[in-house]
Amino acid sequence: MILKTIKDRRSVRLYDENKEISDETISKILEHGHYAPSSKNSQPWYFVVIKNKKLIHKIMNAKTPERPEGKNLLIDQKEFNETNIPKAIVAIFFEKRRSIFVDPRFYGGKVKSYFLNVGGFAYSDLVNIGCVLQNMALTAHHLGIGACITGDLLETGINPEIYDWVKINKKDFQLVSGIRFGYPKNELGGKPNREPLNDRVKVI
Ligand SMILES: Cc1cc2nc3c(=O)[nH]c(=O)nc-3n(C[C@H](O)[C@H](O)[C@H](O)COP(=O)(O)O)c2cc1C
Repeated sequence: MILKTIKDRRSVRLYDENKEISDETISKILEHGHYAPSSKNSQPWYFVVIKNKKLIHKIMNAKTPERPEGKNLLIDQKEFNETNIPKAIVAIFFEKRRSIFVDPRFYGGKVKSYFLNVGGFAYSDLVNIGCVLQNMALTAHHLGIGACITGDLLETGINPEIYDWVKINKKDFQLVSGIRFGYPKNELGGKPNREPLNDRVKVI
């Protein structure tokens, strides 16, 4: 079952505009995201669930330093209409005080030089968020919901205004990624496009 869920999951970018996602379903997705593994069980994530339609529109239309004036975040999708608009977005923040670099519960708050520092965090601090994203994407798929991890949408620095929009303090939190959800507009088709596994493996 889990193997099928992993293989059948696709990134879904077009949504059924007539079908809302229930709060119960969103809670399930959050709960299973929260069950992700994390370095030292630090659980450094903080979720902001964005259901407000106006704000979702604003985010999906946001102009960013990365994108020329007048182009929105969905530029690659050729068209912008209601089917591009997810029913919910979960913005995933990293809570800085929970970094294994600084949280005294883990290493007495001492910076360990062998943790790769990626802008004030240990590398593994951010990997944790990746585990959450995958849990959420798989849970959504299992529940019949389409999901698309959207680094482009919310990545730190690309859209700095997002902190104000969701009333999150930039001093204490770092936005890492977003994931958007909606019931799929179309059947999830086709096999995933993956290069041959053998080209990516070495056994010694
Ligand atoms: C970290 C990360 C960031 C991503 N950012 C975006 C994005 O900004 N926009 C988007 O449409 N898809 C985004 N994706 C989805 C990928 O494009 C997608 O996973 C990939 O093309 C493989 O397709 P599949 O998920 O259907 O197997 C992202 C995926 C990951 C893991």
